[in-house]
Amino acid sequence: MTQHTPTQLRIGICGLGTVGAGTLRLLEENKETITRRSGCEIVVTHVATRTPKPELCQNVAHSGDDPLALAADPSVDVVVETIGGYDVAFDVIKTALTSGKHVVTANKALIAEKGNELFALAREKAVTLAFESSVAGGIPIIKALREGLAANEIEWLAGIINGTGNFILSEMTANQSQFADVLQEAQELGYAEADPTFDVEGIDAAHKLTIMASIAFGIPLQFDKTYTEGISKVTPDDINYANELGYEVKHLGIARKTESGIEMRVHPTLVAKSRLLANVNGVGNAILVQGDFVGSTLYSGPGAGAEATASAVVADLIDLARQVVAGATFPVYPALGYRDASNDSPVLAIEEIDAEYYLRIPVIDRVGVMAKISNVLQDQEISIEAIIQKEAASNESVPIVILTHRVKEAKLNKAMAALENLEEITGAIMRIRVEPFHGEAT
Ligand SMILES: NC(=O)c1ccc[n+]([C@@H]2O[C@H](COP(=O)([O-])OP(=O)(O)OC[C@H]3O[C@@H](n4cnc5c(N)ncnc54)[C@H](OP(=O)(O)O)[C@@H]3O)[C@@H](O)[C@H]2O)c1
Repeated sequence: MTQHTPTQLRIGICGLGTVGAGTLRLLEENKETITRRSGCEIVVTHVATRTPKPELCQNVAHSGDDPLALAADPSVDVVVETIGGYDVAFDVIKTALTSGKHVVTANKALIAEKGNELFALAREKAVTLAFESSVAGGIPIIKALREGLAANEIEWLAGIINGTGNFILSEMTANQSQFADVLQEAQELGYAEADPTFDVEGIDAAHKLTIMASIAFGIPLQFDKTYTEGISKVTPDDINYANELGYEVKHLGIARKTESGIEMRVHPTLVAKSRLLANVNGVGNAILVQGDFVGSTLYSGPGAGAEATASAVVADLIDLARQVVAGATFPVYPALGYRDASNDSPVLAIEEIDAEYYLRIPVIDRVGVMAKISNVLQDQEISIEAIIQKEAASNESVPIVILTHRVKEAKLNKAMAALENLEEITGAIMRIRVEPFHGEAT
């Protein structure tokens, strides 16, 4: 990075949408405080965005529509990438790093999927690629994992890390509504995109989990190994049965270090109502982290939106400014919280995890059906913790709901396949994993 003057850090923002415009606004509105805390002025000198926004850029010296030119411009010290997506954003970050500039990005998809390459480049060029805003918006979870909890071995973390999914499940719970109806409501309220796939199918959460797990356990980013299951199959009946059994249904991202490897999984999950995570509703995010010395710590707050995300982008800018003022050797922080990438623990396939399960089994209500189900479960050494069996009005299909004790998922899969072959089973079995948060937890 060019050391032109220690009293000013010149910022170029690429992409002036929700996050980019929020960042510009926060830097202007809290200028005095930010300057005082940074030890130098943080000035947006350049902006590059597709649709010109002159009303936002009155104090910006250079406004244009070419983010690559901005990324290479020698008069910019730090590039803020808030375009999103994979293509232009990747080129912008690569160009900026190659030109010796620090980069701040909110782009979780890019960090999770192409971060290993970009962090290697940042290391080579001795610059910082900062990404606090890429996970859980305004919640400073990256700094918590990388700095605040740095003395701990992280045992596991579990979080509600997609506001749209949490809003949908919360509304389904409160109003007994169907998934499709609440999704439409979420779209009308602006909480869900026109194409909601990334949110409801868990991809967005898997991006964030991949990033958190790599910092927590010192492993490379491995998005392709993160098990990802969405919430579109959860029904109001499942939520009601879970409630009867003392649980809420939440869409969790869970990462855990075990003796045989690392678990990274995103899926609907039964969480005991007594847990704080079970009570995080609406578009909020929350992450529970278990460290070996500190115990469990919980971080919650707004996971998206202009203000929350800009708060995290600007925090990264202030960090950078402080480091520049202090004459630091970059990068100050090892990109993903580890210096030597020595943790080569394998990521476990979902079949290899041990968990407890909720099963909703649609059956013809006939004498002996429960005995048959028990036999199949016994064959796989699966024991039952709780059961709900509803009376059928006539000879129609009714659900039998079972909570199992802990078992390897591969065995559960075998049992489900065998159950679905029974003539009394009338349809697909719904399976939801239960998270007991082993170890002390809030
Ligand atoms: N929104 C949130 O709450 C949130 C939270 C956390 C992280 N993020 C991440 O932040 C990033 C940005 O999200 P956002 O919600 O701010 O997106 P957005 O509102 O769609 O903003 C993207 C901006 O980039 C501009 N742009 C697109 N292609 C461009 C190009 N080729 N050259 C120049 N400018 C271009 C867009 O211009 P037009 O106006 O012409 O489309 C728009 O101004 C994404 O990676 C997202 O995952 C967002």
